[in-house]
Amino acid sequence: MCGIIGYIGSRKAYPILIKGLHRLEYRGYDSAGCALISEEDSDLHIYKAKGKVADLESAAKGKDCSGTIGIAHTRWATHGVPSEVNAHPHVSETGNLTLVHNGIIENYSTLREQLKKHGYHFQSETDTEVLVQLIEYVMSKTGEDLATSVRVALKSVFGAYAIAVIDRRHPDMLVCARRSSPLAIGIVDGDGEFFLASDASPIAEYTKHIVYLKDEEVGVIERGKHLKVYDLNGAETEAEVKEIDLDLSMLDHEGFPHFMLKEIFDQPNVLKDCMQGRIVESPYSHSPQVILSAVTSNRRRLLRARRIVIVSCGTSWHAGLIGKQLLEHFCRIPVEVAYASEFRYSDPVIEPDDVVVAISQSGETADTLAAIQQAKSQGAFVYGIVNGVGSSIARESDTGTYIHVGPEIGVASTKAFTGQVVVLTMIALALGMAKGTVEQDEYEQTIRELIQIPEKINRVLEQNDKIKQLASRFTFAHNFLYLGRGWNYPVALEGALKLKEISYIHAEGYPAAEMKHGPIALVDAEMPVVFIATHHKLYQKIVSNMQEVISRHGRIIAIVTEGDEQVKGMVEDVIEIPETLACLAPLLSVVPLQLLSYHVAVAKGLDVDQPRNLAKSVTVE
Ligand code: M6R
Repeated sequence: MCGIIGYIGSRKAYPILIKGLHRLEYRGYDSAGCALISEEDSDLHIYKAKGKVADLESAAKGKDCSGTIGIAHTRWATHGVPSEVNAHPHVSETGNLTLVHNGIIENYSTLREQLKKHGYHFQSETDTEVLVQLIEYVMSKTGEDLATSVRVALKSVFGAYAIAVIDRRHPDMLVCARRSSPLAIGIVDGDGEFFLASDASPIAEYTKHIVYLKDEEVGVIERGKHLKVYDLNGAETEAEVKEIDLDLSMLDHEGFPHFMLKEIFDQPNVLKDCMQGRIVESPYSHSPQVILSAVTSNRRRLLRARRIVIVSCGTSWHAGLIGKQLLEHFCRIPVEVAYASEFRYSDPVIEPDDVVVAISQSGETADTLAAIQQAKSQGAFVYGIVNGVGSSIARESDTGTYIHVGPEIGVASTKAFTGQVVVLTMIALALGMAKGTVEQDEYEQTIRELIQIPEKINRVLEQNDKIKQLASRFTFAHNFLYLGRGWNYPVALEGALKLKEISYIHAEGYPAAEMKHGPIALVDAEMPVVFIATHHKLYQKIVSNMQEVISRHGRIIAIVTEGDEQVKGMVEDVIEIPETLACLAPLLSVVPLQLLSYHVAVAKGLDVDQPRNLAKSVTVE
């Protein structure tokens, strides 16, 4: 977590850093800071604030922000509480060096004790402060320049880092490095102007040309010169320049009060983008077909798979649970779904033909990244389903399919979930067709229905006002139960996660039939129970589960298929979604749950896009 940004060039650095921090704020927002080398007195000027980037702006107001070189940081606390003193940038003993860091230095306490013995003093409780002190120590002992000292110092460091460091005596140089935490360097051709950031979003408006540093690479950026990249041994490596294409309009609210609401409403359009060019008219039949380049070009390898293991976290894990059902149904391949954080330490059994599917919105989740590295080291073939273009997981995967839903800024994942499910559906259909495990009729019918999903989501979104009104009556609750079966069971989990992360109401998702094995004890008049009871083969059984809750005075909110008179006759709060195939129902049934959690949180006056304790991208263990 944490976002870092740096700039060196001919423009004023401060506005670029602040704007960039706002774009990176999704990565953490408990404190922020920036450092500039002033044009006026050539000294370092550092401003920090506990709280959000806006608080940093207040702290820096009216002060010297004149530099054309600077670094900045927005923090998600790991070591040390959110406070001004723990906020980055951190400064070295002499005050010459200052540094920002994203990641965790695992051996920081050992290094700290050693440095203390050499007379270094520490101001903060962070792991980061040892880095800047260590670099200065190496510099003072070896007499080497900043770039070499960074390289040498990093050889003694265990853990994850993306860092940027500047030296007040050298206002034309910025040094950066990474291991297991992302770092992108934007290059403005010919101008010797550089931007660096934790992802490309703060850079994209200045340049399309990006170098993603690789693990254990050090970037040396000098004003007016070419970027140089070295490994930790000092050998120069090739900086591969990639061209990015980011839709910057996606980085604004566009008239919505919050990113989350905008992203919920984005779904019809971005899901069309996700299918664009992948669901195509066949020249040989009247029906469209799914063509995924990752499946086509790895057909033989994928057909060999006797088992698929899906690894992911959070909402992406819920999408994985739907992916399991899709792949097993259409491809008849056994699928396991593992939390990446458990898989990586579980001594997993990987057979030579296994395929590991990694699902991640950001493409930077530390546990998911480590899980695929573990799987690859044991010979698995890794298929990434990622939103973050050029992200670490996308680069580490053997092949993959981007979900192409545009940047997701709200901490609560919404459009990424539906994008992941659409991609999983397309993979299952394409692979099932290649394997011959799906009937032509079912294949065609599923594609035809999938194409209809964006319009059907629009019909769910038309009920936004009704859901808002309903939500306002449920802010009293301290607990919620979400129940679903089959295809809708992962939706119950996802609905519960959405509610707890932004409204701080405890919520649990359960398979509806499991309720009688324990959770039913919780049901009383104070307990809202959300049933996802769309039409499918278990519909009557879930209606019976509803009766059991009604008998115990539970307050039911039911998500049903349009025209369902039976449930409407039983409960007051009913949200209807259009009819679709059972396997596609999650793409519709999740939408009212996204809106419900959003409106409950807004009604409670909470910060929907930046809920407490969370960060969008979990790049630490
Ligand atoms: O970027 P990823 O999809 O790998 O992130 C995984 C989880 O951290 C993420 O889904 C998290 O649970 C969201 N806040 C859920 O809304």
